[in-house]
Amino acid sequence: MQRIIYDNKCLSEWITEAQIDAYRESAVSAETLLNEKSGLGNNFLGWLNLPKETDRSELEAIKSKANDIRENTDILISIGIGGSYLGAKAAIELLSFSFEDMRRPRIVFAGHQVNSDYLSDLLKLIENKNVTLNLISKSGTTTEPGITFRVLRQWMEKRYGKKDAAKRIIATTDPEKGVLRKLATEEGYSTFSIPPDIGGRFSVLTPVGLLPIAVAGIDINELVEGANQALDFCSGTDIKKNISMQYAINRNILFRQGKTIEVLASFQPNLHFIGEWWKQLSGESEGKNCTGIFPASVDYTTDLHSLGQWMQDGTRNAFETFMILKNTRSVIEIPRFENDSDGINYLAGLSFETVNSNAFRGTLLAHLDGGVPVSILNIEDRSAATLGQLFYFFEKAIAISGYLLRVNPFNQPGVENYKNNMFALLSKPGFEKQGEEIKNRLKDLEL
Ligand code: PA5
Repeated sequence: MQRIIYDNKCLSEWITEAQIDAYRESAVSAETLLNEKSGLGNNFLGWLNLPKETDRSELEAIKSKANDIRENTDILISIGIGGSYLGAKAAIELLSFSFEDMRRPRIVFAGHQVNSDYLSDLLKLIENKNVTLNLISKSGTTTEPGITFRVLRQWMEKRYGKKDAAKRIIATTDPEKGVLRKLATEEGYSTFSIPPDIGGRFSVLTPVGLLPIAVAGIDINELVEGANQALDFCSGTDIKKNISMQYAINRNILFRQGKTIEVLASFQPNLHFIGEWWKQLSGESEGKNCTGIFPASVDYTTDLHSLGQWMQDGTRNAFETFMILKNTRSVIEIPRFENDSDGINYLAGLSFETVNSNAFRGTLLAHLDGGVPVSILNIEDRSAATLGQLFYFFEKAIAISGYLLRVNPFNQPGVENYKNNMFALLSKPGFEKQGEEIKNRLKDLEL
């Protein structure tokens, strides 16, 4: 069953059939380059057929480890940044209870920023708790998770002793290369492998995402099967069928009309981190060579009371993609009060979803009237199968879209610039020369 539907009829004012036709050849060529593995970044295409090629015995191994963790852990700390963090976070936020306190075990993310207060609060949170660490880093050299792991490893070794701590540390990393693989082997940590041909932001359906997701009690077979089903309607050269291709073409046409920002808007708080995951997927894949759509996300109705003003009336350089959840898990009706002193009785008996749906439809019309090109991604429900389809839909769309923008969607050369400066400033061996140079520049800026 197709559980996500892309509806682009509201774009007709901005996009004509002729414009789509003009893109058809390039989009078909992008699809072919991906399938034949002959385009830019072609050594990072392991995600493309992953859902149908996933070794089911690996899923069993992940589930078995997840069950062990669930039995002996109050708090799993998942340490990673970027693609080594956002997919799992997005899945857990979408499919679990809204409040962290209701989740068992609790899954806390760390190493996705640099902050002593966060870490010191985390150390307080885990006092007297049974803890498991999952350090996720493909390269093994990323600073943020690296320094966070040091602190938490020290805590674990003090708490459990070196040998028992090692039993509670799982490393998810490259199958052979890198310092984390080496460390895990030396220390006897259990490990899961990230396929060498899958980059971080395309890795949610590898153990990177699957282990924390399984620990959260989410059915990872259903998730992968959902993604597998998406291959049906997100692959192939038939533009009428391939919704990833439709979406990729539309965003490129709009981009060339000066709509350089895409706002992914949802009306469902549990989708917030899907927006964060998508921003990384899109921004890191496309923003290079001085081009790329700037990905932004908003949570309505909350943000209708803030950024909604900008969307309605601000600079006209954005288009909007609504993510609309068709079925919530529960339905609460607004109660009727005899004394209608707050004037809300006109809504009594209606569900929150009816109000939300009208907020969406009203917003859609208002934004269309305000000159914002909008399209809709209808999402069936908050199930693992639907999420699998959603992950695959976006991954495929961004890959095609990147090729339409003529960039390599699978590298991130720009990320190195800040890292090199930071390493130089922190006197990392090998960066001495740059260090002197940039310290002088900063002195001039009095920074
Ligand atoms: O998408 C990517 O490749 C990046 O965002 C990485 O996931 C991120 O930089 C973390 O890298 P690593 O897993 O090597 O620590």
